[in-house]
Amino acid sequence: MDEVAARITPAADGSICVLGIFERDELAGFVVVIHPQREKLCHAVELAGMYVAPTFRRRGFGRTLLKVTVAHVQSIAGVRQIKLGVNATNTGAKALYQSIGFASYGVEPDALRVDGTFYGEEHYVLRIDPLA
Ligand SMILES: CC(C)(COP(=O)(O)OP(=O)(O)OC[C@H]1O[C@@H](n2cnc3c(N)ncnc32)[C@H](O)[C@@H]1OP(=O)(O)O)[C@@H](O)C(=O)NCCC(=O)NCCS
Repeated sequence: MDEVAARITPAADGSICVLGIFERDELAGFVVVIHPQREKLCHAVELAGMYVAPTFRRRGFGRTLLKVTVAHVQSIAGVRQIKLGVNATNTGAKALYQSIGFASYGVEPDALRVDGTFYGEEHYVLRIDPLA
């Protein structure tokens, strides 16, 4: 739990924020938005830890959260692309990202180790038209 809390704790400099989606007052899902502040990297935002609680899945929460997140990132001046990585076997999440327009640009073999088993990590990018 501490590990999860550490990953989703917003940073004071704005480089990490968390967007949540709620049903009434219940948190249904969240995604971490990482925006590096260094000049060399600040044109790209990374998404991490996308999660919808099991009881809310397959009801459109993930897609809505992702669309709102893309709109939010689009409003950040100078940002040109959003990237993320996903376990290459996670067909549900990959279908969701592809449905929003994310394009796969490669798989890093054995990038992830879960309970002693290695998995490839598939990398996705969404090129965006900045509003500013
Ligand atoms: C992946 C995840 C975020 C999807 O959230 P969700 O709220 O269930 O997604 P949605 O209901 O908005 O589904 C959007 C689309 O994604 C795809 N999808 C989502 N879950 C799927 C599944 N289990 N199997 C196949 N396709 C799936 C479908 O194309 C779906 O569209 P459809 O319902 O019109 O067919 C959620 O299952 C989750 O939190 N999983 C565990 C954590 C995880 O894998 N996170 C991703 C890490 S990169």
